[in-house]
Amino acid sequence: MTKIILDTDPGHDDAIALLLALASPELEVLGVTTVSGNQTLEKTTANALKILEFVERTDVPVHVGAPRPLVREQWAAAYVHGESGLDGPDLPDPKTDPRKGHAIDFIAAQVEEHDGLVLVPVGPLTNIGLLLAKYPGIESRIARIVLMGGSIAEGNVTPAAEFNIWADPEAAHRVFTSGIDVTMVGLDVTHKALLLTDKVDELRAAGRVGSLVAQLYDFYHERHVRMYGWEGSPVHDALAVAHVIRGDFVETEHRHVQVDIGPEPGRGRTYVDLWKRTGNEPNAHVGVGVNGPGFTQFLVQRLASLG
Ligand code: RIB
Ligand code: CA
Repeated sequence: MTKIILDTDPGHDDAIALLLALASPELEVLGVTTVSGNQTLEKTTANALKILEFVERTDVPVHVGAPRPLVREQWAAAYVHGESGLDGPDLPDPKTDPRKGHAIDFIAAQVEEHDGLVLVPVGPLTNIGLLLAKYPGIESRIARIVLMGGSIAEGNVTPAAEFNIWADPEAAHRVFTSGIDVTMVGLDVTHKALLLTDKVDELRAAGRVGSLVAQLYDFYHERHVRMYGWEGSPVHDALAVAHVIRGDFVETEHRHVQVDIGPEPGRGRTYVDLWKRTGNEPNAHVGVGVNGPGFTQFLVQRLASLG
């Protein structure tokens, strides 16, 4: 069993990623840490609590992290996730509270306690950057980071940059230069693993969790159809979690990645040395291929198992 901490900014795909993790016996979710990103920290934290309450998993601790990126101002992706960050389903306000203690102190303590712990950041990397700054040397005790972020090719929030990296490029730079075993599940693979409406229809009738996911998808998909005109929508964060469960959905190449921490228009871009032109040592396993149908079938089956 792999022990993980999900660092997240729910967010529709974050919520689905959390549900996948909870539905998977291969994983033990030691905790959820929240960060600002898709919405404000207050809203992303409330959304994490809502999801855990919905599936009666309030045993999983939630610890609150950074309210804003290291350098740029906080900027919510409301155009994708709505004002609540989880628009669509009518989820009640959370009745539970986050646990005491900052997210990075919780992560540090869990890294010390659990060898082989995998950090799964699926939002801006602010908490992870702060963790590495506050706990020098912890790099050697973090077994692996599997993050959703970046892209070899085009961006999504700007032509150059994917949202999670763009939101906090300095934190991302810290992560990619840390020497930790980093896997980058970027847009090049998430955009080729679209969840199609007919697969969601299978979920819609598959119980209360399936119905919740279908309602999340309906809102999220409508935004994506407007932006991209695609038949399906990318469940970015769930693909990162799926890669921790089974490494055969996403094909990776070990390459050097540099984060652009300069000004726009390149700010937040991940320069992936795909053809090894720079001579720089590889520092990340970068997603280059994906079995999209295999992943979405797996995702739907696992989500349906939650009842
Ligand atoms: O670019 C996709 C990423 O940005 C996902 O993590 C999504 O939740 C948003 O945070
Ligand atoms: Ca996210």
